[in-house]
Amino acid sequence: MSTPSPSPVADKTVGVTVSRLTKKFGSSTVLQDISFEVKPGETFVLMGPSGSGKSVLLKHIAGLEQATSGEVRLGQFDAADPATRAKIRLALVFQAGALFNSLSVYDNLALYLREHRLYNETGIRERVMHALTILSLENAHKKFPSELSGGMKKRVAIARSLVMEPQLYLYDEPTSELDPVMSATICEIIATLREQTAVTSIVVTHDRTLALNIADRIAVIMDGRIRAIGQPADFMPPTDPAIINFFNPIINLKHPRFKQLEPTHE
Ligand SMILES: Nc1ncnc2c1ncn2[C@@H]1O[C@H](COP(=O)(O)OP(=O)(O)OP(=O)(O)O)[C@@H](O)[C@H]1O
Ligand SMILES: [Mg+2]
Repeated sequence: MSTPSPSPVADKTVGVTVSRLTKKFGSSTVLQDISFEVKPGETFVLMGPSGSGKSVLLKHIAGLEQATSGEVRLGQFDAADPATRAKIRLALVFQAGALFNSLSVYDNLALYLREHRLYNETGIRERVMHALTILSLENAHKKFPSELSGGMKKRVAIARSLVMEPQLYLYDEPTSELDPVMSATICEIIATLREQTAVTSIVVTHDRTLALNIADRIAVIMDGRIRAIGQPADFMPPTDPAIINFFNPIINLKHPRFKQLEPTHE
């Protein structure tokens, strides 16, 4: 995807190294001794059942959670060190959008560029409207987050990440709440960014179509551990019964899962 004019910020894509990461909340262990490496320029997809620890892992990479043990490095920098945020430009697209409710869509996108004095207002306008147009939001620039649908908020969050021109994108469920065409657009945006800017992306998703289309590698997390890691072709078809059940759960109307959970009445 082309931006209106070249960025004045020197871009160097970064890799991510997760080493023996363990996270406990009280007595509950959410991540257990997780290690993997994302190479600079790679699109790495994290999948796994709901509650398996994907968002918590992404927050460690973004420096928003402190590990119980182990560490995450962004390039050579410790992700947990607050000083790293000034050194690595990362964009985090949260599951729920996380927009500033008191700012218009336009100002939500312009905020980062203004704070970092990256462009004058004309340059900011060019970039903000370009990103909004890519996501079919050009007519929503004056709206406030409370006036948007769930999927529109998600698209604004993605547009905001685009104007930041980050070295590292972290997406949490970028296609949830979106219609199939908009999901395909997000898929194309992530794939195009990888091709044209060689940016590193880590994408948490339940969307198999997205995963198989954009991933250089996929990791599946189950119960806080990496159950499988490999290229998309390694999962087509999967061989591990737990992964088969996760990717292609059989809908069994004769013996529904929830019935097996019901209390037995004697
Ligand atoms: N701040 C917190 N305090 C306590 N427990 C937490 C906290 N954040 C997450 N958890 C717990 O950690 C576990 C993993 O949560 P996480 O949000 O990473 O799941 P997930 O894999 O992203 O699931 P989903 O696919 O539903 O988004 C859950 O059991 C959750 O309740
Ligand atoms: Mg999550």
